[in-house]
Amino acid sequence: MEIHTNPAFFLYVSLSLLLHLTATSSFSPADSHLVNCGSAEPTTVVSDNRRFTGDSGTHFLTAAKTVPLQDPNPTSSSSPIYHSARVFTRPSSYAFGIREKGIHLVRIHFKRFNSERFNLFDAQFHVSVDGYVLLYNFTGESTQKDNPVIKDFVIWVDTEKLVITFTPSGKSRIGFVSAIEVISAPKDLIADVAQFVNSEKNERVDGLLKNAFETVYRINVGGPKVTPFNDSLWRTWLPDEEFLKSSDNSRRVFFSGRIRYQLGGASREVGPDSVYNSARVVASSNDSVPRENITWAFTVTDGYRYLVRLHFCDIASVSLGILYFNVYVNGNLAYGNLDLSSETYGRLASPFYADFLVDGDTSGVLTVSVGPSNRSMPHEVDALLNGIEIMKVNNSMASLDGDVSVKSVLRSPSRGNVGVLVSLVAAVCLFLTASIFMQWRRTGVKDSVAWSRLPVDGSAAYSKV
Ligand SMILES: *[C@@H]1O[C@H](CO)[C@@H](O)[C@H](O)[C@H]1NC(C)=O
Ligand SMILES: *[C@@H]1O[C@H](CO)[C@@H](O)[C@H](O)[C@H]1NC(C)=O
Ligand SMILES: *[C@@H]1O[C@H](CO)[C@@H](O)[C@H](O)[C@H]1NC(C)=O
Ligand SMILES: *[C@@H]1O[C@H](CO)[C@@H](O)[C@H](O)[C@H]1NC(C)=O
Ligand SMILES: *[C@@H]1O[C@H](CO)[C@@H](O)[C@H](O)[C@H]1NC(C)=O
Ligand SMILES: *[C@@H]1O[C@H](CO)[C@@H](O)[C@H](O)[C@H]1NC(C)=O
Repeated sequence: MEIHTNPAFFLYVSLSLLLHLTATSSFSPADSHLVNCGSAEPTTVVSDNRRFTGDSGTHFLTAAKTVPLQDPNPTSSSSPIYHSARVFTRPSSYAFGIREKGIHLVRIHFKRFNSERFNLFDAQFHVSVDGYVLLYNFTGESTQKDNPVIKDFVIWVDTEKLVITFTPSGKSRIGFVSAIEVISAPKDLIADVAQFVNSEKNERVDGLLKNAFETVYRINVGGPKVTPFNDSLWRTWLPDEEFLKSSDNSRRVFFSGRIRYQLGGASREVGPDSVYNSARVVASSNDSVPRENITWAFTVTDGYRYLVRLHFCDIASVSLGILYFNVYVNGNLAYGNLDLSSETYGRLASPFYADFLVDGDTSGVLTVSVGPSNRSMPHEVDALLNGIEIMKVNNSMASLDGDVSVKSVLRSPSRGNVGVLVSLVAAVCLFLTASIFMQWRRTGVKDSVAWSRLPVDGSAAYSKV
């Protein structure tokens, strides 16, 4: 009580609120490394007006043997960052200086092409970052022919450097990368808590931030594709049609007013206007509440946990306090009688999101549903959803791509390579020594130069390996 009547305190609160508001209204990341790999051009500007720097001769790259490669026949419609790549024939790393510890977005782009020197369609490699395996036996193959593949990770960094390592594997022993983005995320992007939901429980879990995440789906429900140009964290959101399983009575709604971002709710970095101003709803048009859900289904990999982030913004109701609905994940009640009016402190068109953690042990499909609850009303909107993000959580081996540890990924292929080379060099040395010894025995000790040079050459070749 005393606190509220203290003017100094009130001023302090207002000031810090104001500061917070101005700080969040224009997000400028402390760390922002945008690299166009294999490019000698100092900068490349892409369609969302961002500048990518070339990596030739930069301090990022910490490897002895890498090759910058130009696509001899680039598609003119594709982004210039896909017209070059850096090729690795040995384990190689990029190291990025980190100014601000915390969550970072790590986005890695791959676009295969064929050139005289290397055929990137033969590539196979692993990608790891700090303690995590991101990609294992990765080929850069796209599900849509010839499209670039963009892998999107969220990683907590508490070191001064973020090191991304590419390790060639398989027969061809080449790896490659087209572009890399390392951007510090706003602090509110991922919370440390979520609701764990399965058929037995719905309980709060902590400690989320010690995991690494890969965003596997990012969906703009009811709306068009959102490109990095329209997203303050340069993300891509896909339309939901492809994932819609049942939606007999659902319809799409669009909103042309202003989305009211507010403190304590989702920020513009959590979800952009373009996501919150479209939705899909179940609505009642007569005296009865429809008995049906809208359901979306996503293919996932068993054996991983997934963080499911659902975005809501009531752009469809005519007034406050009339929209109540249930939210289900994998058919289990995740949020009963969700009342957006109270979650958004009594404002319409104000964004809200909820995070649910699920086990991916449901025969490879993860479902999300929204539907009427027992408080839903006739003649009103009875369920709504604006956006879905599904993030894979690393497994207990700190891997996002199989039961492999970073240790084994960093070790295996180079060992094989070096092993073969060492035994080859040893064999050649042995053979040369033997033949020279034979020669020496035949001709005497005349040719001492050759005799003394050989071990020097041999050891030099050996240490280079
Ligand atoms: C990875 O690739 C190597 C070589 O092609 C193969 O021997 C191995 O079985 C693959 N591992 C997995 C988990 O696919
Ligand atoms: C993207 O932003 C532009 C300019 O602000 C706008 O005209 C366009 O409608 C937006 N696209 C989407 C999908 O929201
Ligand atoms: C309300 O409309 C739905 C379809 O729009 C229909 O299936 C249902 O029978 C109607 N209910 C009543 C009470 O008219
Ligand atoms: C919506 O889906 C949930 C979970 O599958 C189910 O329990 C519920 O009965 C469904 N609601 C309606 C109205 O069909
Ligand atoms: C309404 O739903 C809530 C939560 O889903 C449940 O706890 C409550 O028992 C239900 N009430 C009735 C009357 O079915
Ligand atoms: C993810 O990896 C971290 C180690 O970096 C580990 O502490 C955590 O338990 C892993 N997550 C899961 C779900 O196993």
